[in-house]
Amino acid sequence: MPGYISNEKKTFEALMRSDNILKHGLSLMMDALEQDEIDFWAGAIKRYAERGDKVVEMGCGSGRIVKLLARAGFHICGFDNDRLFIGYCKKQNLDVFYLDAIKAVPKNQMGRYKIAGITSNTLLNFPKKARNKWISCAHSLLRDKGILLVTVYSDTRFSRHTIDERVKFYRNVLAPSNGAHVEFFDNKKRAGIHLCNKKGKELWFSEWLSKNELQREINSWTGLKLVSAKLLKCGFAWGLALKKI
Ligand SMILES: C[S@@+](CC[C@H](N)C(=O)[O-])C[C@H]1O[C@@H](n2cnc3c(N)ncnc32)[C@H](O)[C@@H]1O
Repeated sequence: MPGYISNEKKTFEALMRSDNILKHGLSLMMDALEQDEIDFWAGAIKRYAERGDKVVEMGCGSGRIVKLLARAGFHICGFDNDRLFIGYCKKQNLDVFYLDAIKAVPKNQMGRYKIAGITSNTLLNFPKKARNKWISCAHSLLRDKGILLVTVYSDTRFSRHTIDERVKFYRNVLAPSNGAHVEFFDNKKRAGIHLCNKKGKELWFSEWLSKNELQREINSWTGLKLVSAKLLKCGFAWGLALKKI
């Protein structure tokens, strides 16, 4: 997985811990985003989907979104390419399956969904090339006029305090060892939080885009048209809805 922690087990363990952190409210900032994301997804599903329409979360991980929305009565499933996550979700009776978003979409999944969604901590953890593959995967999964929901961080609203909180959060989640470190980076082209090994090689990142960069990137997504963009209550993430055209 380019741009992502390559060791699946480690990813799983790290994110299980992050799920716990979210659950137990150790990071207020992330709690705020989690609630905002859920509200955004629930509002968008109500707005764009009708009874019986299928909704899928791409890269559902431990199933935090699928679980909450399924509990709220939405017909939602998820997929991931990490079998440990799939097993974890299935144990909780969540409707999940294996699919790799950067590979060809199987025929039986094409055009199946009215809504596909990608969370903030998924899309912007990948390099641009892989992001484009995720978007084209979403396009294939959606039926005509289907809606892609994406939540993404916006750099303009990040305060120093928020950055410090996010660094602390990821230090907890990723628990770097062997000289690896988690830090904030801003080299003008990219900004975010990353995990580097002791030689400075980037092993993982979570980045955010300026409003202009975000607009440029959205404009490059072929076959999808932005129909709404909402700054979420937390103030540092956008909820986007794009229609398949
Ligand atoms: C940061 S986690 C987010 C999990 C979940 N969306 C959430 O917000 O709690 C990103 C997820 O994407 C999954 N993932 C990474 N690459 C993938 C790929 N190529 N296809 C499908 N899932 C992938 C990872 O296994 C991980 O579960």
